[in-house]
Amino acid sequence: MKMKICIVYDTKRQRGATVHIVQWMLEELKKMSINADAKRVDEVDSFDYDVFIVGSPIYYEKPMKSVVDFLQKNKDKLSSKKVAVFIVCLATSLGKLASWYVKRRYLKLLEKSAGRSLVKSGVFKGWIRKPNYSERERVIKWIRKLISSIYARN
Ligand SMILES: Cc1cc2nc3c(=O)[nH]c(=O)nc-3n(C[C@H](O)[C@H](O)[C@H](O)COP(=O)(O)O)c2cc1C
Repeated sequence: MKMKICIVYDTKRQRGATVHIVQWMLEELKKMSINADAKRVDEVDSFDYDVFIVGSPIYYEKPMKSVVDFLQKNKDKLSSKKVAVFIVCLATSLGKLASWYVKRRYLKLLEKSAGRSLVKSGVFKGWIRKPNYSERERVIKWIRKLISSIYARN
């Protein structure tokens, strides 16, 4: 099967962590010869993909409304697809309790909105000013795992 992937995201900072993370995903998918596009939520004009990877930064304790809305409004269209969700935040660096909180509170809304299409979720560490290139390795591992789990299901 030749799979086609769409990475859907939003951010308030066009040079921020989310855009970097999406770029790292695209590069890795390209290396794996997988056909992938990245679109901001408001640019999505086709659902002709097998997999949607949908991501949002966390600002003030919440994923962006535009991203949650994308999942909720397109629930029917996404119901026949595989959906992975991820968030980009800083709370993960604060220790175990914060990581638990991040999963419960920040991720839950996206996971719930993806419904039964959800195949994987991820939490990546963003930054305020200085890019955290050490997160790249985790992003690559995550996307590789996602792809192999999708191949394993088919
Ligand atoms: C205005 C603002 C509010 C933020 N609020 C939170 C928060 O509530 N929890 C958290 O873990 N990180 C928070 N962060 C950290 C961001 O999640 C982090 O900077 C991330 O990289 C943002 O994505 P971006 O780089 O694509 O903008 C906040 C950052 C900003 C700039």
